[in-house]
Amino acid sequence: MPAIVLLGAQWGDEGKGKVTDLLGEQVDYVVRYSGGNNAGHTVITPDGQKYALHLMPSGALSPSAMIVIGNGVVVDPKVLLEEIDGLAARGVDVSRLRISGDAHLIMPHHRALDKVTERYLGKAKIGTTGRGIGPAYGDKVARMGIRLQDLLDPGILRKKLELALREKNQTLFKVYNRTAIDVDTVIAEYLEYAERLTPYIAETRVMLWDALDRGENVLLEGAQATMLDMDHGTYPFVTSSNPTAGGACIGAGIPPTAITKVIAVSKAYTTRVGSGPFPTELFDANGEHLRKIGHEYGTTTGRERRCGWFDAVVARYACRLNGVTDLVITKLDVLTGLEKVPICVGYEIDGKRYDDMPMTQTAFHHATPIYEELDGWWEDITKARTEDDLPENARRYIARIEEICRTRVSVVGVGPGREENVVRTPLI
Ligand code: GDP
Ligand code: IMO
Ligand code: MG
Repeated sequence: MPAIVLLGAQWGDEGKGKVTDLLGEQVDYVVRYSGGNNAGHTVITPDGQKYALHLMPSGALSPSAMIVIGNGVVVDPKVLLEEIDGLAARGVDVSRLRISGDAHLIMPHHRALDKVTERYLGKAKIGTTGRGIGPAYGDKVARMGIRLQDLLDPGILRKKLELALREKNQTLFKVYNRTAIDVDTVIAEYLEYAERLTPYIAETRVMLWDALDRGENVLLEGAQATMLDMDHGTYPFVTSSNPTAGGACIGAGIPPTAITKVIAVSKAYTTRVGSGPFPTELFDANGEHLRKIGHEYGTTTGRERRCGWFDAVVARYACRLNGVTDLVITKLDVLTGLEKVPICVGYEIDGKRYDDMPMTQTAFHHATPIYEELDGWWEDITKARTEDDLPENARRYIARIEEICRTRVSVVGVGPGREENVVRTPLI
């Protein structure tokens, strides 16, 4: 039963979309298991076409894979339909999509609340994507969410929405001074979505179990990343779901025993969007180099990504937490031309050395990185396809990451295209 998890090892945008696309032709199913349209996965297909996917699994761009949105995802139906239409217009066969009836819907009040709560937090804001993710997961946990399956029963849809809005409208109006949301308008809008989405709604669990029984490959594509995990990340500066490997089982309905491989994707440096601690963040010319050469601007919101050196404490934490079998290090090409390429191997916190993540949020906020300075390289590595094609210093950099993380680096990305990789060990 080969289920493979692919997830982010840092704070997101590691290049998960590219790696999923790379594996697309070797897998039978690609399943999104968490998050929503806060994700932005960029894929550049061999014909040079660029896609930015938010809800659709990146496997959509591999013609043979079935594509599934699992129960753990929160779905904004408007965004999903726009994405379906956009892909169809570019010749992608979207009839392969199935969505779990248990996936929760993002409703207009979720988007409204995401925006006003952020504004009220002021300086303490999370820096969310404003897509309604937190409020939608909040309602799920509070057992007042509305699910994809509710679109199939207009009576239930209305009942649930009326109940939700009775409370949310009070909050919007009385606490945040916003206009109340009209039930009838939302019902009319969502029934239109229902008509179009009904053919895609399915019992995806059974589909995936049957596929696994047949010995087919199921790839569970993560969105967000380990350090944005609600339980294991830099809380409260996280997203409201569990992008880690455990979350893949929950969000797709697949048993842990079915998982044979966990692939973690990490950049050769670090980026973060939104607020929250980031010990290796750079505010100098090196940070500018990473942002400029790495084109570090968000796929979803267009925000500038914060940039910094590779943090091996975070990487090792992600490897142990997720049981990572294979690391993919992307964007090594972006480091070309730097005299030194430091790796953060520990933190100094209030006079004490830490080799692992400290226990408290306060301590992590005080962390000063301890660096090991490796020599850089100047050679263009974008055409490298085997390890021998890489300059010695680049090989040494990768070997050091491997050593600290105690996890093999199987693939190294040297460019955004599907083929632009050094494959040390095939992933499948
Ligand atoms: P995701 O959210 O993890 O799928 O990552 P994003 O798509 O948001 O951001 C990763 C960016 O890096 C995209 O623009 C990719 O095209 C690009 N990318 C991925 N791998 C590489 C690589 O090895 N080298 C370079 N230069 N760019 C890459
Ligand atoms: P992909 O899948 C990077 C960040 C936001 C914010 C925090 C909470 O492309 O890697 P949310 O809207 O989820 O409530 O925002 O999480 N964030 C991401 N950062 N990549 C992402 O997804 C992200 N999804 C959410 O910037 O700091
Ligand atoms: Mg992204």
